[in-house]
Amino acid sequence: MIHYRKSGVALALAIFVFAGISATKPADEPRHKNLKILPKNISDDDLDKIMDSFKDALGVKCKFCHAPSKDSTERKLDFASDEKPEKGIARHMMRMTNKINKKYFSFNKDEKGETVPAISCVTCHRGNQHPDGK
Ligand code: HEC
Ligand code: HEC
Repeated sequence: MIHYRKSGVALALAIFVFAGISATKPADEPRHKNLKILPKNISDDDLDKIMDSFKDALGVKCKFCHAPSKDSTERKLDFASDEKPEKGIARHMMRMTNKINKKYFSFNKDEKGETVPAISCVTCHRGNQHPDGK
């Protein structure tokens, strides 16, 4: 579920090659403005999968972590905003989860020798916002 690092490397390579071909186009701008942990040029598809996994793991909706848009004429979420503290906690949890996998489960490899994340958000949360029962 949490293949950030691996897909980040593959993506970075793909973008490097692509940028060489289309250096004249201003298309290299990252689509997502405020990624601090996930790769900045992650595809929409990969980002959607990760966000859906967060939603399901905690049993919440997107708006649990994402603040509403400041523009009151539209009823959208401002995904780049860091206004909701839950988003900050989620980043902290992402770092923790990555660290646990790296430190304690590095032996967990697939047939290609790539590390497979042993734990993810759902390992603890199991559909609850507060896995500690508080
Ligand atoms: C448990 C909290 C949580 C939930 C639920 C969640 N997100 Fe996120 N989302 C985050 C965090 C944290 C980041 C920033 C990740 C980083 O810094 O690398 C993020 C980033 C994003 C971004 C990139 C914004 C930008 O421009 O930087 C989008 C788009 C997004 N989320 C969409 C969604 C959608 C759609 C849903 C519902 C399906 C959703 N998120 C549910 C925590 C959450
Ligand atoms: C090792 C277990 C564990 C893992 C893995 C884990 N969490 Fe948590 N998480 C907790 C515990 C325990 C709490 C409650 C902490 C507290 O409030 O005392 C919590 C709280 C949270 C909260 C705050 C909820 C609230 O109601 O304020 C968010 C958001 C969150 N986790 C997101 C995530 C995301 C996203 C992931 C995966 C990237 C994740 N967590 C992975 C144990 C875990």
